[in-house]
Amino acid sequence: MVTFKALAAMALGTAMMFESWGFIMPHQNPTDMLILVNKQNKAPSVPITLVMPDVTPTRPELAENIFMQPEAAAALEDLFNGALEEGITLYATSGYRSYSTQKAIFERKLRKMSERAANASVAKPGYSEHQTGLAMDVEGESSHGAGLVQDFGDTPEGIWLAENCHRFGFIIRYPEGKSDITGYVYEPWHIRYVGKEAAEEIHKLDITFEEYILMIRGDRIAMLEGGESHENALQ
Ligand code: DAL
Ligand code: ZN
Repeated sequence: MVTFKALAAMALGTAMMFESWGFIMPHQNPTDMLILVNKQNKAPSVPITLVMPDVTPTRPELAENIFMQPEAAAALEDLFNGALEEGITLYATSGYRSYSTQKAIFERKLRKMSERAANASVAKPGYSEHQTGLAMDVEGESSHGAGLVQDFGDTPEGIWLAENCHRFGFIIRYPEGKSDITGYVYEPWHIRYVGKEAAEEIHKLDITFEEYILMIRGDRIAMLEGGESHENALQ
């Protein structure tokens, strides 16, 4: 039987497949809301526009940690306001991170645990989605101050976030039981802005962002192969 993974690998064509779900994207635009940043795909090291969303930071003294790209920031404001209308209070902990901030976080983790364990929970500098300005770590009222803990997923805020963030263009980027695909442990607090269309689709199909990217790239390649060539389409 040809698996979805094998089909996707064939469809990708120009991308290189490594182990299980490791593939390298051929070209990525730093301002593309569908940019894939993971263990195989580095965050582009180019300047991006960042703004501070008008939401409540988990720690007001660390408000400079919650910058995002403008479109993602506006969507985060809608998400937090939408949550509040349904009795759910959220706080923003960590948005955009520079290379050096990610390096400091990774090195702090390494001092506390083995490299293998650190790699499963924190991205190496250069490889964090936080460097795109499209991700935010979120806390809720019931676990406010407890930090970023997996139990958040069982709180009313964590449950609401998982069930509703797609309506505002976000996904839970590292879902439970998908570490073999995403490369990271379950992070119910880490949401990633991908835009409403992609978020709805990912939620509906109950797939990871990696699977979604393979799926949409496969579709595009099949379309080009079946119809006019890319060159013709550009003329
Ligand atoms: N915790 C996520 C994987 C990061 O460090 O970007
Ligand atoms: Zn995060």
